[in-house]
Amino acid sequence: MRHAVYPGTFDPITLGHLDIVARACAVFDKVTVAVLVNPRKQPSMDVDTRLAVIEESLSSLPGAAQVDVLSFGGLTVDLAHRLGAGSIVRGLRAISDFESELQMAQLNRRLAPDVDTVFFMTGIEHAYVSSTMVREIAALGGDVSSMVPPGVLRHLRP
Ligand code: PNS
Repeated sequence: MRHAVYPGTFDPITLGHLDIVARACAVFDKVTVAVLVNPRKQPSMDVDTRLAVIEESLSSLPGAAQVDVLSFGGLTVDLAHRLGAGSIVRGLRAISDFESELQMAQLNRRLAPDVDTVFFMTGIEHAYVSSTMVREIAALGGDVSSMVPPGVLRHLRP
């Protein structure tokens, strides 16, 4: 079975992230969306809220039956090994993402040569969307309803 882990902070999940999940489902039999619990970061949404919102957002996605969602701490490659997943999925929006993603992919390969990173390009309509910008726009009273799944809206800080 082709199983991939899609790790991220997902604070919050955006339509760009969902686009990547849908694209990954077309290639992999199973995709595990893995929410990082990072004690050094103070996310705007706690992990249980992020998990619930992701579950809700995925329910209408084609391929939802192939997807599961969990939280994790520690290294992504260790999670991949525990799950028996051979691939890590990451999304690329623009060239500017590539440098840090390449570094992460190469480091992950150094740590776990048996786990490869597979990149998917987001649809162009999502290319300028980031969780950070969504949080900022929402905090300043802007409309982010075209950038995030509906379930996210009620959890964003006004
Ligand atoms: O959504 P993000 O914040 O871009 O996701 C970053 C993430 C979670 C993929 C990355 O920070 C990660 O994999 N963290 C887990 C710890 C780890 O494996 N670090 C080594 C990667 S080089």
